[in-house]
Amino acid sequence: MSAETSLIKARGARIELAQVRKEYADSVAVDDISLVIEPGEFMTLLGPSGSGKTTTLNIVAGFTAATSGTLTIGGKQMQDLPPHRRDIGMVFQHYALFPHMTVAENVAFPLKQRKVPKARRTEMVEAALGTVRLGGYGHRRPSELSGGQQQRVALARAVVYEPSVLLMDEPLGALDKKLRESLQLEIKRVHQEVGSTFVFVTHDQEEALALSDRIAVFDDGAIQQVGTASELYEKPRSLFVAEFLGESSTVRGRVEPDGDGSCLRIGDHTLRVAGRTAAGGAAAIVVRPEHMRVQPTTAPIDPGANALPARVTQEIYLGSGRKLELALPDGTVLLAREQADRLSGVRRGDEVTVVWNVERGVLLDDTSDTTPPPTSGDRIPVAASAEESGR
Ligand SMILES: Nc1ncnc2c1ncn2[C@@H]1O[C@H](COP(=O)(O)OP(=O)(O)O)[C@@H](O)[C@H]1O
Ligand SMILES: [Mg+2]
Repeated sequence: MSAETSLIKARGARIELAQVRKEYADSVAVDDISLVIEPGEFMTLLGPSGSGKTTTLNIVAGFTAATSGTLTIGGKQMQDLPPHRRDIGMVFQHYALFPHMTVAENVAFPLKQRKVPKARRTEMVEAALGTVRLGGYGHRRPSELSGGQQQRVALARAVVYEPSVLLMDEPLGALDKKLRESLQLEIKRVHQEVGSTFVFVTHDQEEALALSDRIAVFDDGAIQQVGTASELYEKPRSLFVAEFLGESSTVRGRVEPDGDGSCLRIGDHTLRVAGRTAAGGAAAIVVRPEHMRVQPTTAPIDPGANALPARVTQEIYLGSGRKLELALPDGTVLLAREQADRLSGVRRGDEVTVVWNVERGVLLDDTSDTTPPPTSGDRIPVAASAEESGR
């Protein structure tokens, strides 16, 4: 396949959701969300099952009508426009290929619907199959392809008419881990090559971190935070985001004033916190495992560090290093990750001191506490109680 024939080029459109809401008889699936997706961006909607991701995507696609709010794509109001007039491509978890058609016929299908002349159609199908690296597979039937290849056909069928927006709902959910990882790379490459705006739904945080320009974290019908992978990982604005993305250790306590700043009190211990002087309330410090260190109880504590006594309850070999599970006296479990060339000597069962630099801890309101946290200006309130259907 030459580089020329694999060129599918679209111009990505800007997507803007403003105060979009979807109510069902007994639940609020999407609770007044606002989100701007830039032209050509790879945006992932990430959240647990039932958090409103599919509903949001279907509103963008036009399969679901919003109860209220506005949606524009490329500056155009979408309210009354049916899906086939929105210039979007769609890939679902189940490939939904036509079994009786060849691969090429499957990919040509949307072009036929759009009345593209035959000669041009053949060219475009070839280009799309080249883009997903299936040049030469056009004559096969879907049943003669692996699951990963079938999903690549579905992807080719979605990009073949060069839509300005490509929507994907858990497209890798049915594939095993290895295949998923290789298709992630494919999707990322196709995104760079095609240039459409991609909106990708997943509940898998690793997948979101690997693929996205930005991620919108959903919980209970609301967007908790939008940001790049590193912003969300390093500067989560809520405990939900901190704990949903990547591994973390959470130490819960109460914030108290301390000199000209504040501290977190847990039992008899006082932990220093960076960058906040707010007073009062249940709060937690979140520390990523790579920033947690373990040292013998007799070792001196660095003046810039917080320290807590703990017991090593588990050593997990990772090849590249190891992970330690540490239990605080109150049962809280913390994680520390050590690189192979910098292993501490501690073993399971040892009493140790766990330490981290004060700036490595992120202080967050503890919403699991019964008293509600003060709502900050940019946090969207969480839905009252959407009925979980386990979807
Ligand atoms: N057609 C429907 N009728 C009633 N409730 C629905 C319908 N579709 C979705 N929901 C509810 O809306 C919420 C969000 O669903 P969904 O958007 O599918 O979540 P996700 O894709 O994040 O798993 C869930 O509580 C779900 O049960
Ligand atoms: Mg879903």
